[in-house]
Amino acid sequence: MNTDSDTELVWSDALLLGYEPMDEVHEEFVDVVNRLLSCPDDEVLKYLDEFFVHAEQHFGLEDRWMTETEFPPRDCHMAEHAAVLKSAHEVREYVAAGNTEVARSFAAELARWFPGHADYLDSALAQWMFKRQHGGKPLVFRRNIATA
Ligand SMILES: [Fe+2]
Ligand SMILES: [Fe+2]
Repeated sequence: MNTDSDTELVWSDALLLGYEPMDEVHEEFVDVVNRLLSCPDDEVLKYLDEFFVHAEQHFGLEDRWMTETEFPPRDCHMAEHAAVLKSAHEVREYVAAGNTEVARSFAAELARWFPGHADYLDSALAQWMFKRQHGGKPLVFRRNIATA
């Protein structure tokens, strides 16, 4: 079991991007990755499959938003989604052959990857989608953020 706190992914308002349909799916991503990090060895395959279902919906939804609205910088964003799914397929083969550790490493890698992906790529898409819906930039109200 991976207990390295560096790889722990904690849902907090700091991860909110202000476009609700995306924020909801991101909160689910955090739950799914944490289950994969902390589940017993004999449930790793089950939670890896849960990750697949989630990732296909999550990335599929964002890819669809980008394609349907002709979001200009969509190529590199869609390529990151595809790379994660490709790795997940490779990891699944290892896990099916009995190597559960590789799934833990993969989950830890996802936990490190996600905040940057959300910050640089998803946030631009969230603003784009919000603007299309409401004609302005999203206002994000984050709790628990210290003001100096
Ligand atoms: Fe996302
Ligand atoms: Fe994304």
